[in-house]
Amino acid sequence: MVQVFNCLDAMRKKITQWKREGLRIALVPTMGNLHEGHYSMVTLARQHADKVIATIFVNPTQFGPNEDFDCYPRTPEGDILGLEQVSCDAVWIPTVETMYPLGIHKTTQIHVPGVSEVLEAVNRPTHFDSVATVVARLFLQVQPDIAVFGRKDYQQLAVIRQMTTELNFPIQIIGADTIREEDGLAKSSRNQYLSAEQRLMSTIIYRTLLDMREGYIAGRSRANIEADATAALAVAGFQVEYAVLRTPELAEPTSECDENRVALIAAVLGRTRLIDHLEFSCPKIQ
Ligand code: PAF
Repeated sequence: MVQVFNCLDAMRKKITQWKREGLRIALVPTMGNLHEGHYSMVTLARQHADKVIATIFVNPTQFGPNEDFDCYPRTPEGDILGLEQVSCDAVWIPTVETMYPLGIHKTTQIHVPGVSEVLEAVNRPTHFDSVATVVARLFLQVQPDIAVFGRKDYQQLAVIRQMTTELNFPIQIIGADTIREEDGLAKSSRNQYLSAEQRLMSTIIYRTLLDMREGYIAGRSRANIEADATAALAVAGFQVEYAVLRTPELAEPTSECDENRVALIAAVLGRTRLIDHLEFSCPKIQ
């Protein structure tokens, strides 16, 4: 049975007991509405730890004023059942008051310089401050040995890695691979906002990422590839926020393709914002 905790003291007592028994603890932070991608994170966490605790918290501070906080799908009963099926040991479901005792506008904030100031930050300037802040709070509440995050949110993972290293959290960060639908669409709780027609169109994101990789490896210029990707998505009806090629650290590459790269896309279809990325290595230039 997965143990459900709504009270911080009770959750910490359990963690203290596990630590006394010498058990290694893994944290899997989520905003709920769990799907196969989240469950695979629990399974991965289980491979690295003796006990796995998931968290469900729809963090109000990381949603912009016109974003989907109010209608973000909340399905705690189904989530708990699902967590049980993947043998998760515990789930921590804090309230907003527990997470932000002084209120959401008075919380101590974490800002991770550099990596949280590009791409997603152009349209969502405070998003990663809020993510870093809530993740740091979860780290302090649970004090796990490891924490698993989806690689799908590529920039989020980079922000969390940098914060963890810089603040010396004694926590190993593990990235879980993106789980895709058969047609390539990355699984996301937000996919359910798509109409049937939009769902068909949405596959173009992954196809565009594949084209970007192919073009770059074939030696096309980054500027042309990014322009073509943006145009292909726009023609299909997306409002493109970015379609770019970057270094793994999200910097603009200064040389042509000779190392690891990542192609990243954020685009809005109707009222649904979709993000995806593809990491790849370029053949070494002799
Ligand atoms: O990726 C998410 O679901 C959220 O951003 C996270 C890491 C749980 C923080 O609220």
